[in-house]
Amino acid sequence: MKISLQYSGNYSKLLSSEIHHKIQTIHHLMATRSGTGADYLGWVDWPHSIHLESLREIQETADKICEQSNVLIVIGIGGSYIGSKAMLEALSTNFESSHPVEIIFAGHLVNGSYLKRLMHYLDSKEVTVNVVSKSGTTTEPAIAFHFLRNYMENRYGEEASSRIIVTTDENEGTLRSLAIEKGYKRFVIPHNIGGRYSVLTAVGLLPLAVAGYDIHQLINGAKSAAEEYSKLDLEKNPAIQYAVIRKHLYDSGYPVEILSTFESQLKYVQEWWKQLFAESEGKAGKGIFPTSVLYSTDLHSLGQYIQDGQRIVFETCLLIEKVQEDLTFVETKQNMDQLNYLNEVSLHEFNHICYKAASLAHLQGGVPQIAITIEQIDEEHLGHLFYFFMMACAYSAYLLDINPFDQPGVEEYKMNIFKFLKKPAYSYNRQLQTK
Ligand code: PA5
Repeated sequence: MKISLQYSGNYSKLLSSEIHHKIQTIHHLMATRSGTGADYLGWVDWPHSIHLESLREIQETADKICEQSNVLIVIGIGGSYIGSKAMLEALSTNFESSHPVEIIFAGHLVNGSYLKRLMHYLDSKEVTVNVVSKSGTTTEPAIAFHFLRNYMENRYGEEASSRIIVTTDENEGTLRSLAIEKGYKRFVIPHNIGGRYSVLTAVGLLPLAVAGYDIHQLINGAKSAAEEYSKLDLEKNPAIQYAVIRKHLYDSGYPVEILSTFESQLKYVQEWWKQLFAESEGKAGKGIFPTSVLYSTDLHSLGQYIQDGQRIVFETCLLIEKVQEDLTFVETKQNMDQLNYLNEVSLHEFNHICYKAASLAHLQGGVPQIAITIEQIDEEHLGHLFYFFMMACAYSAYLLDINPFDQPGVEEYKMNIFKFLKKPAYSYNRQLQTK
């Protein structure tokens, strides 16, 4: 399995001795776990270090959820939400739910109407709750869990505790203590894997298994990526190439990257990518601002700005070689809609031509172009793609001399909430120390 990467500029020209030296240093820091944030490099070996036994336990729990429930509520925000959402959207079919259990997210926003309506909706369903929080103290999911836990206890009484599953840090946090006290089933997010790098842990695996997808294939895809992208090869390792190109474009006056795609089911993969890069790189007054567009929709809105607005943007298009289902034009006798020129063109082919047309136009308009291509969307390719982006992101942040694994800016607003609401100082001081 491979990711192929194309760049509109001359990549070889970017390979100065300085960049060779920097990449070698980063590679060494990652391999020896000695760079800034090295305590959070657990994701690097994770596809190889996760035990088959852990996968079996996740699958068994998923099977049990499927037996006892027809709805799973997944409570979480940021890295504890967006990766699962991205995988489920990417793999789902559009109109009919193919999932044995409906998966509904909560805690990624605070909205009384949403929660009230959700609880009303749940009244006619059998429910399991999976609350996910690495720190176990983030306010938004804690609020959602507060209301949903009450709901579960009122509705199921003692049985509620067998319908609540907690995914949290192995050593600390309020959620962990609560889970132990209440006897909830617990899955661990290893301490050395941060939120936005946790999609391949129980955080993403449990909802994926409940939805009926193959978690072994996801991990297999990540394994092949771990082998491929750990190589120190500036000419052939696309994770390093992507990081080198991004750094070059950033230094050349392009501080905004747009991730575009024609595949609507990748919308939340784009969201996951945005979180990964924004929280990893956007620090100390530095970093590329990551944003996204969905084509063709956005060719008819933001496309104007990309083509013609401020020249601060470069574009990375996420392309898929094969789609699962497609439609092909067949010419009609009368050609009343004047579309016979599309005879024998499939919609996937049309999109590829549209991509070439937009990419050429944007390039001529001064927008550097990168293309990242994967063969198809399935569990294995998704696992591979997630790992690819995580590795590229770590290199990118290190190239900017930034710690890829903390998020001091996010902590600022979290602390302000505590201050405004007068949360006892002990709790938030403690959270500051442990994050
Ligand atoms: O990447 C991160 O660490 C953050 O985006 C977190 O995922 C997010 O803030 C949620 O935190 P937690 O999982 O601790 O509730």
